[in-house]
Amino acid sequence: MKNIVILISGRGSNMEAIVEACASEHWPARVAAVVSNKAEATGLRFAADRGIATASVDHRRFDTREAFDAELARTIDGFAPDLVVLAGFMRILTESFVRHFEGRMLNIHPSLLPAFPGLHTHQRAIEAGCKLAGATVHFVTPELDHGPIVAQTAVPVLADDTPDSLSARVLVQEHLLYPRAVRWFVEGSLAINGHRVEQTEGEAQLLMSTATPKP
Ligand code: GAR
Repeated sequence: MKNIVILISGRGSNMEAIVEACASEHWPARVAAVVSNKAEATGLRFAADRGIATASVDHRRFDTREAFDAELARTIDGFAPDLVVLAGFMRILTESFVRHFEGRMLNIHPSLLPAFPGLHTHQRAIEAGCKLAGATVHFVTPELDHGPIVAQTAVPVLADDTPDSLSARVLVQEHLLYPRAVRWFVEGSLAINGHRVEQTEGEAQLLMSTATPKP
């Protein structure tokens, strides 16, 4: 039974999708804890209601990024994680934190990486005239939003999209994509070859949204 620790900063809808899939699909894993940098993160309530351990480490209590990350790592290690899942965890992580969990830490980013790392991805995709947007699950490496890609989902960008409408369309897909990628990790069906990640059971690493542009 593998231990998953999920990190959130707010709503936690991806965390919810992972918790639900872990239980309903009987993964060889359990969500051991949900940890946030914000005590008021709404997702913590969902986790606690499910009987999942929760913890918060407020980044504002620390003078340096290094000190915060050291305490965060100590807190996570207390739950003996086999996998750390960043699910809307909105902090830039130090290299030593990332190295500590390297090869066992996943992130979801709301763009088709390597396009649009960083913030405001949906607005930037619309402004760039992209016809396709999406989300990427990747292993976390010290360079922000650049690790080996596990899976991607693509959705159309519609002519009248706003960042909010595009974000909502992508989020529906994130909830399908992230649990699938986490399941692959806990089942041991991912192989990393350099920057390429293969799904050894042959499951699709690309999800295409069925939403079609209006005529
Ligand atoms: C998700 O869209 C996720 O892709 C994004 O934050 C949202 C969190 O929503 N993550 C990032 O932007 C990380 N750079 P959630 O809290 O409801 O899962």
